[in-house]
Amino acid sequence: MRIMNIVLLGGTPGTGKTEVASALGKELKREVISLGTLAKESKCISAYDDARDTNVIDEDCLVEAILSLLEKLEDDIIIEGHYIDLVPSSKVERVIILRTHPDDLKERLISRSYSEEKVNENLESEIFGVCQLDAIDAFAEERVYEIDTSKNTLEESIEEIVETLTSSDPPIRYDWMSELEEEGRLHDFVSGA
Ligand SMILES: Nc1ncnc2c1ncn2[C@@H]1O[C@H](COP(=O)(O)OP(=O)(O)OP(=O)(O)O)[C@@H](O)[C@H]1O
Ligand SMILES: [Mg+2]
Repeated sequence: MRIMNIVLLGGTPGTGKTEVASALGKELKREVISLGTLAKESKCISAYDDARDTNVIDEDCLVEAILSLLEKLEDDIIIEGHYIDLVPSSKVERVIILRTHPDDLKERLISRSYSEEKVNENLESEIFGVCQLDAIDAFAEERVYEIDTSKNTLEESIEEIVETLTSSDPPIRYDWMSELEEEGRLHDFVSGA
């Protein structure tokens, strides 16, 4: 097996992973693997969490599915989805976490007809920066970059990602929590804040 390189695309639901991955795949001429689809096709969905309105993934099963897929592939690829932390770190060249300002993410999630609980849960996750903290834990600070898709068009996001992939600048970090706190608006989004 040739050593291939993987770009990972992660982020809170609604930040644009699927849409950006598909356009980036065309731009870089790389195949795109969606972990949500892989989990379904590999029968790694172990249950449905009614309370949280989301699938529960058997992580061991998905790790196996990722490893057997990587065995078969030879070219550089893009992997997008919620479970990017399960991809073997040694093959990952860069991790791009898509970020969206809570005001914009709220609109996108409401337009998906998510329940109020699901909108709030995802907004809190984006405000606390859960996805990039998990990615930094799994892949180390210097490989994890963030792209703000709040106001960008898809084309602008792709341009920014392509630049980022070859950049030696340190990653930019977004901190919605501090921004909202300074504006005195954190309690509009986070219960108990
Ligand atoms: N700059 C942008 N980049 C990507 N998506 C954008 C951008 N601006 C607006 N959007 C919109 O945001 C939504 C993102 O949806 P998408 O399904 O790609 O998100 P996702 O992160 O894959 O969500 P999920 O985790 O639920 O799969 C789309 O409706 C898209 O049109
Ligand atoms: Mg998606």
